[in-house]
Amino acid sequence: MKQNNLFKLLKYLILTVLGISFFLTFSCKKEDSQPKEQKTNPTASSFGVGPIQSKIELGALDNALAQKGEKLFNEKCTACHKIEERYVGPALKGVTTRRAPEWIMNMILDPMKMTQEDPQAKELLAEYLTQMTNQNVSQEDARALLEYFRKIDQAK
Ligand code: HEC
Repeated sequence: MKQNNLFKLLKYLILTVLGISFFLTFSCKKEDSQPKEQKTNPTASSFGVGPIQSKIELGALDNALAQKGEKLFNEKCTACHKIEERYVGPALKGVTTRRAPEWIMNMILDPMKMTQEDPQAKELLAEYLTQMTNQNVSQEDARALLEYFRKIDQAK
């Protein structure tokens, strides 16, 4: 009956190997799925640095708010920005597709801190070689400016 024992041992070995490979497959999958989760939930760093540190809930486009933002933009931002083309600062068309809403608001509210501490804003400063100045915009007004940029980016 020695052969029988050998079979038992083999069976046991095969089951152990199968078990280990299942375990490995499972734990590898877990690791793979982590970066994907991070992409859908923007990490703290994509918020940038500044007063906005919690998620801004965006609803359907608010036209009245966007109009308020357009007016503010013409008063406070056109010295350095155009919508369609590069000027002292970057063209702002498409900004809502390249940055998180929170990041855009932080850039408007505290541009100095952003260009010192946020990697993407640092890159912009290195490219444009002019420091965007603080325009003393309230959070409410920054939200209106964001709505104006959303309106531009949603228009076809
Ligand atoms: C003195 C010129 C100046 C003024 C005024 C100014 N900006 Fe800027 N802005 C810049 C520059 C230059 C940059 C690139 C970052 C840097 O170098 O500081 C920039 C970057 C930005 C960005 C990021 C763009 C991107 O591609 O990610 C946003 C958004 C922005 N500005 C919005 C505004 C708004 C809104 C106002 C008005 C309240 C404003 N800026 C006023 C010069 C200015």
